[in-house]
Amino acid sequence: MSKSTYEPAADRYTNTVGYEYCGKSGLQLPRISLGLWHNFGDVDDPDEALKMIQFAFDHGITHFDLANNYGTPYGSAEKNFGKILKDNFSSYRDEMLISTKAGHDMWAGPYGDWGSRKYLIASLNQSLKRMHLDYVDIFYSHRYDPNTPLEETMSALSDIVKQGKALYVGISKYPEDKAREAYRILRENGTPCLINQDRYNIFTRHIEQSVLPLAEEHGVGVVAFSPLAQGMLSDKYINGIPENSRAAHSYGFLQKSQLTLEVIDKITKLNDIAEKRGQSLAQMALAWCLHQPQVNSVIVGTSSVKQLQDNINTLNNSTFTDDELWRIGELG
Ligand SMILES: NC(=O)c1ccc[n+]([C@@H]2O[C@H](COP(=O)([O-])OP(=O)(O)OC[C@H]3O[C@@H](n4cnc5c(N)ncnc54)[C@H](OP(=O)(O)O)[C@@H]3O)[C@@H](O)[C@H]2O)c1
Repeated sequence: MSKSTYEPAADRYTNTVGYEYCGKSGLQLPRISLGLWHNFGDVDDPDEALKMIQFAFDHGITHFDLANNYGTPYGSAEKNFGKILKDNFSSYRDEMLISTKAGHDMWAGPYGDWGSRKYLIASLNQSLKRMHLDYVDIFYSHRYDPNTPLEETMSALSDIVKQGKALYVGISKYPEDKAREAYRILRENGTPCLINQDRYNIFTRHIEQSVLPLAEEHGVGVVAFSPLAQGMLSDKYINGIPENSRAAHSYGFLQKSQLTLEVIDKITKLNDIAEKRGQSLAQMALAWCLHQPQVNSVIVGTSSVKQLQDNINTLNNSTFTDDELWRIGELG
């Protein structure tokens, strides 16, 4: 493939998704971030992947969320993103916020999973190579490891910052008590936790009682992943499972069995509320997450530029009446 002649849109910071400070830090996050868990691996369409990254950046989406094992096969999302960066964005690195993670299964043997210092540091070194980067903006511990002392996992994160391989660190999916301890250790190490990344959407609200108030108390930002419940919070599954949707793929994480009659009934009723608001269900679901004051950004996954455009348009109508919030709450 020949080198790209891509030039970003000149109005990317005026015609934009808008930004919010991440917790009490000085770092601003775009209200909508793009996640590369699905749709950017070797099994996916490389032309659409390139177009989505360019379209995102052209609309002020500066934050791209990855992990070591994203894509099918593992590592392929970082590898493909690295190529896109090298060919298109080499002059724009300082305008981009790139995050990656380690904590889930990545390679064979005892050092390719969970939360040891050995795994986290080796994995970040591999991620940097795959993406052709000197540093990432945010490095996460992808999950809490009950068999590794929290001090070990957190000191690995702190050392990564001190070595200049990440500018900030974060945690993902930590139980509340472990998140509290992690915030303390990171603060004592002089590398405060920037951000907590957790699942949050109309169907999954447990973080409202734990993660959200705790993050606020500690000045930590929150970014919500799977805000569309992997696509269930859109109109696509109302009349069956379309070809090429995440639920139709053998390698995707959304199982057909999750689309029960009860779930489809809720989706249909939520879709009616969205229609009355004059927006798509996907837009309403994103606006609903962003309505929560502690949520600084939502990380969407998209399989096409069309979906990304639809999601960006969320911000045209992101307020709710009390009655709408109550009716949505009843269907969650
Ligand atoms: N920290 C963690 O443990 C963790 C876990 C999961 C995810 N994440 C992060 O969060 C990101 C997002 O997660 P996710 O992919 O599950 O997010 P999601 O936004 O809930 O679901 C993405 C899927 O929704 C569908 N979709 C998106 N926009 C749509 C629209 N406007 N209309 C109709 N359908 C639409 C697409 O499905 P189709 O593919 O069927 O078109 C897309 O693949 C990931 O990429 C990753 O960065 C983090």
